Amino acid sequence: HASAKDRPVPSNPDLPLVGKITEALTAAPRDIRKVLDGPDKDDILDPAYPYRTVLDKDLYKTRMKGLQLQLVRLMHDVVATGKRLVVLFEGRDAAGKGGTIERMRQNLNPRSAYIVALPRPTEREAGQWYFQRYADWLPARGEIALFDRSWYNRGVVERVFGFSTEQQRQVFFRQLPLFEQMLVDDGIILIKLWLNVGRAEQMRRFLDRERDPLKQWKLSSIDVDGVLRWDDYTAAIRDTLTWSHTPVAPWHVIRSDDKRRAHLAAIQTVLNGVDFAGKDTEAIGTPDMAIAGGPELLD
Ligand code: ADP
Ligand code: MLT
Repeated sequence: HASAKDRPVPSNPDLPLVGKITEALTAAPRDIRKVLDGPDKDDILDPAYPYRTVLDKDLYKTRMKGLQLQLVRLMHDVVATGKRLVVLFEGRDAAGKGGTIERMRQNLNPRSAYIVALPRPTEREAGQWYFQRYADWLPARGEIALFDRSWYNRGVVERVFGFSTEQQRQVFFRQLPLFEQMLVDDGIILIKLWLNVGRAEQMRRFLDRERDPLKQWKLSSIDVDGVLRWDDYTAAIRDTLTWSHTPVAPWHVIRSDDKRRAHLAAIQTVLNGVDFAGKDTEAIGTPDMAIAGGPELLD
């Protein structure tokens, strides 16, 4: 399709956020502002990313197909043996959580594998134990729950936007390792994925949302206000990962500037994290170490 830079930013009275990204970009540092020049879509923008261009499409498709076959076996095994699997997808806005979840769920039975994407807490939920509404969505025997955001909202977005108090956060971080320990003790397989996107790439994706009428709905006021709070997010993310990277529930950080490499690494990480009948470790392979690792990849 035509490149985003060829199209003017449409103004739409029903979508007051449209135009705000372009506005924020014109005031951004030069290396971020370059997004407005419409860089080639295959070019990686972050100089710290280990590759300069995205993974070849055919290579991606071939590898993805092999991994999808393994995912189907995993699902059969989960259903047959009554396993319970939780995969958390976290990361900044536009890190690619939705797309990665979509690839993972693509060939699975929606009755066994479901997505949990909760809206902001209601008044009533805000008056409950913080973990309560998430606990409602934990899997039963034979189910896979894919969390598009999770209880980690309290550590990151709620801190950056002041949606909860410092006191609430202290309680949260005290309870967090105990909560996750309880899930694992009870037999739930818990896999935590942190998708890490660079600042220029995040801006490119926001700009794309702003300019594409099919994607404008994705643009939220959190996205628009969040672009100016990059450093606040960075601090909140660093603290959150430091306090929640435990032996029982470690984080897998995945660089997601290249969505293709990120999708493959995320699925490989999940497949490697579960034992299932028919598992072919050679076909799965190990995730690219330059793309996937622990919290040290954030720096
Ligand atoms: P998403 O990126 O999931 O499409 P947003 O960018 O709009 O959604 O918001 C990011 C996260 O912040 C969401 O999980 C949303 O529920 C949460 N959030 C938004 N407003 C509030 C609020 N007032 N209190 C707590 N959480 C909120
Ligand atoms: C993402 O791309 O990470 C998700 O779709 C969520 C979002 O950024 O709104």
